[in-house]
Amino acid sequence: MPLPLNLQSAHDISQDILTLGERAKGVVNKKSAAASNEDMLMRELKEILNILYADQADACFDALKSRMDAALKARPLDLKKRDAQRKDDPLWFARSGRPAYCAYIDRFAGTLKETCERVSYLKSLNVGLFHPLPLLMPREGDSDGGFAVMDYREVDPRLGTMDDLRLLAKELRDADMSLVLDVVCNHTAREHQWAQKQLAGDPEFQDFYLFKSEQEVREWEEALIDVFPDTAPGSFTYVEEAKSYVWTTFYPFQWDLNYGNPRVLVEMSDVLFYLANAGCEGFRLDSATFLWKIKGTSCRNLDQTHLIMRAWRIMLSLVAPSVFLLAEAIESLDAVLPFYGKAEKAECQLAYNNNVMTALWGAMADQDATVARSVIREAARKPAHGAWLNYIRCHDDIIWQALSASVAQEKLQNWSDFYAGKDSFAKGLAFQAPKGLAASSCGMALSLCGGRADALALQRLKMLTAILFALDGVPMIYMGDEIGLENDESFLSDPLLKDELRWLHRPHMDWEKAQKSADASCFEGDLSQFIHSLCHILQDLKLSARGLSQEIIDHEEKQILWLRRACSSFSFQMIANMSAQATKINLPNESKRLLGGLDDQGCLAPWSFVWLQT
Ligand code: GLC
Repeated sequence: MPLPLNLQSAHDISQDILTLGERAKGVVNKKSAAASNEDMLMRELKEILNILYADQADACFDALKSRMDAALKARPLDLKKRDAQRKDDPLWFARSGRPAYCAYIDRFAGTLKETCERVSYLKSLNVGLFHPLPLLMPREGDSDGGFAVMDYREVDPRLGTMDDLRLLAKELRDADMSLVLDVVCNHTAREHQWAQKQLAGDPEFQDFYLFKSEQEVREWEEALIDVFPDTAPGSFTYVEEAKSYVWTTFYPFQWDLNYGNPRVLVEMSDVLFYLANAGCEGFRLDSATFLWKIKGTSCRNLDQTHLIMRAWRIMLSLVAPSVFLLAEAIESLDAVLPFYGKAEKAECQLAYNNNVMTALWGAMADQDATVARSVIREAARKPAHGAWLNYIRCHDDIIWQALSASVAQEKLQNWSDFYAGKDSFAKGLAFQAPKGLAASSCGMALSLCGGRADALALQRLKMLTAILFALDGVPMIYMGDEIGLENDESFLSDPLLKDELRWLHRPHMDWEKAQKSADASCFEGDLSQFIHSLCHILQDLKLSARGLSQEIIDHEEKQILWLRRACSSFSFQMIANMSAQATKINLPNESKRLLGGLDDQGCLAPWSFVWLQT
């Protein structure tokens, strides 16, 4: 059976890392095993395309094959070596005590070059994955924080060039970190050349986007749920030049791509290959939920969307095998779990653990960990071939509705009110939500914990962070939370941003404060050094970030969240008191305190925690 692709160069690399002894014993077998694996993957890809594209499947397959071939040939040798090293470790990025760090480049460092100068700062936080929010060429003006891309092969000129991006990727690699990039795969800016060509009637670009008549819009919209009901109601936007409506799940300038057209899949796959070859080691698949549309459905998480995820996994496995996929699907757990795919048909290796994040904030509001306990238990249904990306804040709002399948709307409403400051210590704001449902919440972590002026806020934030790092998975730090930056209201005076509340929690990095992060006697240093300790403890324990058994221990006091993770020779335990009442705790026998602790009366103080090794 001939190889479906010109993959010889990949073989050469894997052969390079075999010892002479290994070569003598088994290289031929390994080579043929690899060949048949590639063959199987290509066959599976073909089957997927048959399901998605029927009589256009063969042409799509051939086009993809030639793009893959070209990408494989162009893949730089140092990246091929990484692929080879990680061949048997698909979860290589889930490393004990090595968090992810997420930031906007302009707000973090200014430019990509200046970000290179901040790599040492990331290193001081033990960061393993660096995820800059979208940095590819956005449209001019409002671009939804860069999520309206005009060109996937150019960097936003205000941030630098593709060469700067390659350089940053390399500097990160040299510092034992990996670059994760957003691929905004569901939509482009209306100014993208694909959109412009479709509008101009270029036959090559027909059907890249979805245009509908007024009547069709009415029919489709019956089953759709608005994402931005206040600032961008509906899912379609009238386009004068086309005299019809284009599909826009998000803002009117973000045009949804039509994955029903195989050429869209080919072009977006090529974008993935191009960015992988520029040194990107993981992709955040933005708005992955929405890729495929079928009338009468909510057009979220459809089977065809999962086939596309699988197709991307297959293609990357052949072109850039070590590159992982992160699903951005802020949905119920039942909708998120399928993004991992099946063990033998993996899709994404990482997904946002949004349900647990949301439930933790809910627990703080209620001073009751009951919901959080069950949500954490449920999240353990994640398959072993994937890992969770755990977080407490990100650049988006906290979407309470993601828990609506398991938590009553009334409770979600209470949480939403709480974080908008109603009868609470929290200093957040309510963001939009579908009619009659609890609005999402915006705010930086410290502000939601009460803000700097609240003497207990730091304690609350440390407690949440201690829970975050104890959970099974990769913890993510959102820029500024490590030094307790608060809400930034400056967006209100920017005409482009003032109507988008999420800018409340997208501050500029305060480097003066960050400079104090080594000094544990000040506020910033206290928090930063605390995170440092969490990382180092995890690293010393070699506590796996990839599916070590995790159980929740029930405690009679509802405010207690007690987590145990069992290793072969010891167990790691985290006990948090998510309330304002000191709570008596009977520690397990022979436990060694790692961090945090009980007071002299054997109580866990309000909003505090203890990490134990038993
Ligand atoms: C994702 C991003 C969000 C953006 C949306 C549309 O959810 O995280 O910030 O608004 O996609 O691209």
